[in-house]
Amino acid sequence: MGRVCDRLDEIYAIGGGPGANRVGYTPEEDEAHALAAGWMREHRLEVDVDPDGNLVGRLRGADPSLPEVWTGSHLDSVPKGGKFDGALGVVAGLEAVERLGRRRRTLCVVAFRDEERGCVGSRARVAREALPGAFVETHVEQGPVLEREGVPLGVATGIVGYVRGTVEVEGRPSHAGTTPMEGRDDALCRAAELVLAIREAALGIEGAVATVGRLEVEPGGVNVVPGHVTFTIDARAPDSERLDALVAALPVDVELRRADPVELETSVVADALAELGEPVVGLPSGAGHDAGVLARAGVRSSMLFVRSLNGGVSHSPDELSSDEDVELCVNVLARALGMLGDQPAAQ
Ligand code: HGY
Ligand code: MN
Ligand code: MN
Repeated sequence: MGRVCDRLDEIYAIGGGPGANRVGYTPEEDEAHALAAGWMREHRLEVDVDPDGNLVGRLRGADPSLPEVWTGSHLDSVPKGGKFDGALGVVAGLEAVERLGRRRRTLCVVAFRDEERGCVGSRARVAREALPGAFVETHVEQGPVLEREGVPLGVATGIVGYVRGTVEVEGRPSHAGTTPMEGRDDALCRAAELVLAIREAALGIEGAVATVGRLEVEPGGVNVVPGHVTFTIDARAPDSERLDALVAALPVDVELRRADPVELETSVVADALAELGEPVVGLPSGAGHDAGVLARAGVRSSMLFVRSLNGGVSHSPDELSSDEDVELCVNVLARALGMLGDQPAAQ
């Protein structure tokens, strides 16, 4: 077991903490990719980096004419992120392929670039070329369900839809001491009202969430009435109807990048869990993933969820999964990839 956890520790140490600090397309993400490429070579995989910086380790199958089977995730992180988000999928994928060895189909382990800022690498890849026959992403659940159910692993049934955008609020910068309250055009006060209204919009729709994660105030002087505020919106809902309703309820009219909810393939992971005598718990993903991008592009995409402890906290240094659950996920992933890797041509 040591190797998977040791590798997760090595990746987590990049950037010096606290938490994981490997924002997409930065030297820290590059360092993680270089580390993973070295491990791929250690395992005698053919290493390829595509034009968008996605890293692919390939173990050629006996029948190269068959569509490839891919596994993996991402090595970037949010600022001060957790140890497991993304990295677990790449490291577990590498370990599973190592254990499987050569199969009928070619097996690939992928680290997609910059997943956190919108699945940048995987979206670029599917826009450039058709992708494999099947993809299995192992990922921490990032929620409380498996821990509450007392179950180590689960199968993701689908991924929520979301919209993301940026709001600009224009005010009039002026002197904090000489500008009467009545005459102010304070961009931050107006932005604050919008932030609370965005929260209300999500509270009004069952299962919807909305977050303002970043807000910048200009000119930023302690003694200047804010003249301009820029903030981000991330709004999500479990289905297209509720996502439409959420977008309509947002108190702003800005360009929003949209990813619709998507269903995932569940049978392969469910069969692997059952064959290993593990309970099969299906659950939706409130987080976006590269598997969602591939599924929307027509790839048979599955996700194996690993229990998140500490109440499911993620995007935080408190993110935690146990060594036992990590070991178990590698076994189940290997079983799933082995089934896919030995499948003959579709009849
Ligand atoms: O934001 C998300 O849902 C994912 O963690 N990128
Ligand atoms: Mn992730
Ligand atoms: Mn994430």
